Amino acid sequence: MTDAKSSSKDALKNKQKDNSTINTFIISVEDQKICFDPEDKTLLNNLESNDIEVHYHCRDGFCGACRVTLAKGKIFYPNGEPLAFVGENEILPCCCVPASDISLIID
Ligand code: FES
Repeated sequence: MTDAKSSSKDALKNKQKDNSTINTFIISVEDQKICFDPEDKTLLNNLESNDIEVHYHCRDGFCGACRVTLAKGKIFYPNGEPLAFVGENEILPCCCVPASDISLIID
């Protein structure tokens, strides 16, 4: 059986082995570190793939239910800026991807 922490360590090892990987950024959430997999398409999908719970509703940038705090790093919205309100340092993981290693605070 694989727990979230050992799979995170495996993801980090794989990143270190393969320096040619593009868009594979490290996402820190409290004491967990996970690797962004571009096949997940969005940060929300990636967090869910790694058993990190985030509230959501529309999954399309309209409702703001998935709002989390970006403590460090950069993200971008591949399909353009979302319609939901976001405060300073807040992001909508349902429609963004990391543009660097990032740290998140999830309430
Ligand atoms: S789930 Fe609605 S804005 Fe992210």
